[in-house]
Amino acid sequence: MESKQKKLKFPNGFLWGTATSAYQVEGGITNDWSEWEAKRAKSKKFKNKKLNPDDYICGKACDSYNRYEEDFDLAKSLNTNAVRLGIEWARIEPKKGVWDVKEIKHYAQVLAVAKKRGLKTVVTLWHWTSPLWIAKAGGWANKETITRYLRYVDLIVNELGGNIDYWVTLNEPNLFTFFSYITGKFPPEKHNIFKANKVMNNLVKAHNNAYDKIHEYFPNAKAGITGLYNYIEPAHKWNFVELFLAKFIHKIWNKNMLDKTIKNSDFIGCNYYFHDRIVWYPPFKKNLNKLVHDKGWEIYPEGMYHILKFLQKYKKPIYILENGLADRGDKLRKQFIKDHLFYVHKAIKTGADVRGYFHWSLLDNFEWAEGYAPKFGLFTVDRKTFERKARPSAKFYGEICKTNSINF
Ligand code: FCB
Repeated sequence: MESKQKKLKFPNGFLWGTATSAYQVEGGITNDWSEWEAKRAKSKKFKNKKLNPDDYICGKACDSYNRYEEDFDLAKSLNTNAVRLGIEWARIEPKKGVWDVKEIKHYAQVLAVAKKRGLKTVVTLWHWTSPLWIAKAGGWANKETITRYLRYVDLIVNELGGNIDYWVTLNEPNLFTFFSYITGKFPPEKHNIFKANKVMNNLVKAHNNAYDKIHEYFPNAKAGITGLYNYIEPAHKWNFVELFLAKFIHKIWNKNMLDKTIKNSDFIGCNYYFHDRIVWYPPFKKNLNKLVHDKGWEIYPEGMYHILKFLQKYKKPIYILENGLADRGDKLRKQFIKDHLFYVHKAIKTGADVRGYFHWSLLDNFEWAEGYAPKFGLFTVDRKTFERKARPSAKFYGEICKTNSINF
């Protein structure tokens, strides 16, 4: 019987990977988040909800600080050729101006182990968390933080730069600023639009200067930001208010930071999770939600295509550095991956220079304010023994990475 299956091939040299961040998997980190979690667990609001504090305190996370070799083996078992991981500033500089040599050596070892397994390293230097002393001095609302961050970047460049293939200076500055300084969902729980604006400007400066610094030492380095790009569209194309709102939100959310940093970017890092269908009445978003995952977020693979076509206009290589879903039962993950990759392929076919896809996440991990409930991993992690186990979709993703293609 003739097979109707179609094989969609990805370009040669395409990077296949998984993504994690330092704080969400390593464990044993003291920073602004660990302090905030401890305080939150004692709050009245938290106690009234009868939540179990253990589920909302990062603590030992996945113990990847000690199990990184095993994690790279898991990544290899998926046939990936690259890995995205993070470095925790609070480990490197626990006190102002005090560099922790042991921790620098630790990360040198981590990167060496990844390289030894033939994995390209995509390294995030800042993924929302800060050392306590930075937070106490006003965090990213204080422009001094730029200088301090640059000193940290300088150290990483000097000590670890040789084993870093792709530099991600900042992760999702837009979401960080929105949750930390507007809605107050993340520490330091501010609700101040002026501060938020300041924070965004400081992050822009931090990236642009970090880019120069990295290139001073490594002229051929590949450095960029990874942003959270939402596919934003009006619910009704004929509704001028919705049209205007969608354009406006797209500009603020997807475009502003990109416009201010693109000159200092060798690539665009793209995290895609969200579709925002804009309506004219509050709360201004009404998705059809035909399919949602455990976190209640709509699954909308087509949005990936639209976002990539938008990013294509900037004429830089694009790496999808995060895309994934919370799916404890692993019911939707295979189809999710397949459908998103279909649209990645379609974008490439029509001219988008997409060079890599990193699934979020390798492991079930600490999902920020939501704690341990959402399960984003291709591998499960036992909360007591830290034993990792592949979900069925891991094998499925592994086949895609191996053949550099998907079957339709
Ligand atoms: C992204 C974050 C990442 C993870 C996923 C689910 O916004 O960058 O750390 O929490 O969402």
